[in-house]
Amino acid sequence: MTNRPEIVFAPLSADPEPTCVVLAGDDVALGARARELDQRSSGALQKAAEAAQFKGKKKSTAELLVPPRIGVSRLVLLGVGKASDLEENDLVMLGGVAAGAISARKSKSASLIAEAPEHSGVRPETLAALLAFGAALRQYEFRKYMTKQKSDDDGAEPDKLQKLVIHCADPDKARAAFARYEAVANGIMLARDLVNEPANVLGPVEFADRVRELEEVGVEVEILDAEELEKLKMGALLAVAQGSVRPARVAVLQWHGGKSKRTKPVAFIGKGVVFDTGGISIKPAGGMEDMKGDMGGAACVVGLMHALAERKANVNAVGLIGMVENMPSGTATRPGDIVTAHSGQTVEVLNTDAEGRLVLADLLSYAQERFKPKLMIDLATLTGAIMVALGKEYAGLFANDDKLAGELLDASESTGEKIWRMPLDKAYDKMIESKNADIKNIGGRWAGACTAAAFLKFFVKDTPWAHIDLAGTAMDAPKSEINPSWGSGWGVRLLDRFVADKYEK
Ligand code: BES
Ligand code: MN
Ligand code: ZN
Repeated sequence: MTNRPEIVFAPLSADPEPTCVVLAGDDVALGARARELDQRSSGALQKAAEAAQFKGKKKSTAELLVPPRIGVSRLVLLGVGKASDLEENDLVMLGGVAAGAISARKSKSASLIAEAPEHSGVRPETLAALLAFGAALRQYEFRKYMTKQKSDDDGAEPDKLQKLVIHCADPDKARAAFARYEAVANGIMLARDLVNEPANVLGPVEFADRVRELEEVGVEVEILDAEELEKLKMGALLAVAQGSVRPARVAVLQWHGGKSKRTKPVAFIGKGVVFDTGGISIKPAGGMEDMKGDMGGAACVVGLMHALAERKANVNAVGLIGMVENMPSGTATRPGDIVTAHSGQTVEVLNTDAEGRLVLADLLSYAQERFKPKLMIDLATLTGAIMVALGKEYAGLFANDDKLAGELLDASESTGEKIWRMPLDKAYDKMIESKNADIKNIGGRWAGACTAAAFLKFFVKDTPWAHIDLAGTAMDAPKSEINPSWGSGWGVRLLDRFVADKYEK
């Protein structure tokens, strides 16, 4: 949110803005344009590097104030290390480091000279686009509730970057190369906005309203209200919602980008618990505020569908999200209640805090019945146990299909959004057998992430299916070069890449 700086592309020869970042390789190797700036300023760049003991190590920086005769107030040298080793994700990260270095210097406009210091194997327009992508992600802010930020005369915040100029060999080509990354960046930032939004503002109804806006990019949006969900017999999802005064919503998003309308879609399914108190099995107070982010899976699906549509992906994709609030009240589901899911199967709810799986159970069975998808992937902040297992670096991947798991792992490798495959096993299925119904919603003390996945599997027929537990990565994840936000937008990039590489051919 909050006015985002504009990113524009300009020729290498254009005059740089007052704050200018240039890339430097090992031993301060410079590209042609940077060498020219160095010569014009009588070797100031090389001298400053030496004085600062800057060697061009990846992500290190050195700064020169008012270097002579190049018309900038500050020039920042940004180390890239050995340029020939740079992979796609390194360049995105470096774009983030550049943006961070620029914001720390509080300049209204800045230049980034996108020129590799030596032959890097990356096309110049790709280099420019990847740096721009990283910079865009790093510049994200969520300040809509900060009433104190002052505006100057033209309404802009003082000392805030408004324009980032990326200088490159062929600006037209770079602009074209950036288009798809910009779409992904917009999807990621949409997901961050949704996760960061507090639950008093973003209830199920308000969330659905935000999702409707995807019609603007050409997504077909259908919102199912509580009455329709009753008719569809989504008894598990509704059991979660019934303790809240705010009624449930399900959004069905369709992007028809495939060559044939008849091609079976790929389906993405998201847990959208706008706030998870735990219900009657109430959570302890400490840290409960984080549960406004319990819709991180749904936010990821919405961000992904936005990205696919904006970049006009050549694929048929469906997004399904279940939006509910899990509250304790006189109308709430009790431990011991038995509910009938959309599939007709019964669930004994032994812990009302294991609610995400109830929401997903109905969406998984509805997705299969209505769309007969080629494959389906659900995303959910499902368990604390996944963080015990993997921390906040990796999300957990569970899959009933090795090919699908492999495709997701490939996309993970390319984007740096890390996933780690976890087991599905009959032994976990046993742990959720119920004495009173077809299945129960908790599995006991151990392997919490695995029994949660086993529960979901119970509602999957023979569709290739993957479940990604992103409880550790969707919110409150470690800040990175490209993520300054509490709600990270994690997963949008991974799944966009998965679609692009495997399902757009
Ligand atoms: N939304 C939580 C999982 C969660 C915890 C996400 C912390 C992000 C941060 C989920 O609904 C939940 O409460 N899971 C329980 C399951 C248990 C009751 C079987 C858990 O993990 O403790
Ligand atoms: Mn819960
Ligand atoms: Zn939850």
